[in-house]
Amino acid sequence: MATARSESPFAMPLEEAMRTQRAIRRLKPDPVDDALVLECIELALKAPTGSNAQNWEFVVVKDRAVKARLARLNRTAWAAYGGIGRWLARRQGDDKTMRMIDAVQWQVDHFEDVPVVVVACLHTWVPPLPSIAASSLYGSIYPSVQNLLLAARAAGLGAALVTLPLWSRTLARWALGLPWTVTPVAVVPMGWPAGRYGPTTRKPVEEVVSLDRYGNRAFARRG
Ligand SMILES: Cc1cc2nc3c(=O)[nH]c(=O)nc-3n(C[C@H](O)[C@H](O)[C@H](O)COP(=O)(O)O)c2cc1C
Repeated sequence: MATARSESPFAMPLEEAMRTQRAIRRLKPDPVDDALVLECIELALKAPTGSNAQNWEFVVVKDRAVKARLARLNRTAWAAYGGIGRWLARRQGDDKTMRMIDAVQWQVDHFEDVPVVVVACLHTWVPPLPSIAASSLYGSIYPSVQNLLLAARAAGLGAALVTLPLWSRTLARWALGLPWTVTPVAVVPMGWPAGRYGPTTRKPVEEVVSLDRYGNRAFARRG
């Protein structure tokens, strides 16, 4: 494991990593070192979990046959969801969304060629839950997934958070050999990017922040 900062593959300044981390779906088939993947996951494990339960499991999928099972699930969900998205984006002349849909389509078509697919799981069965329990459970895995994405970005790896292959938990459990006590929550295909990183476009902060009461856009009037 890297210790000295100068040797670390993660030396990128945090702000740069956060500002340029985006869904990179077009990936080269070139292999990624296991050691680097493990270091990314080790950084992911620095995330918080409810009651510090650390009730997580990560399945690193490299076997083409297992990737093919996840790819089939991804294709099934995308066949329904992607068609609607494409139709809507065309209708609205939304070029940006069309570009995203093309990238998703590329990943759907090349899923088996992605060198590493990390599946983040909760080490528990997730029953229908009251909202506080659901927040705590999912909130105990998604921070680690964001850490994983940022670690990948800092190391120059492309990655994206994907959930379509998990449309059926039962089938996803079969695909990965998971017991019913382990629940897959997020899939992160990773590899060396075929495209480039770039700043993400997001809503302006003033548009989504209220002061004291919801809807009081006081910060929008600053300056
Ligand atoms: C909960 C969640 C589920 C997602 N599921 C998928 C998915 O199944 N397939 C996919 O290609 N992208 C998926 N994404 C990625 C989003 O489309 C992406 O984060 C968003 O478009 C912003 O992209 P950008 O960071 O490149 O700007 C998902 C993101 C989140 C947060």
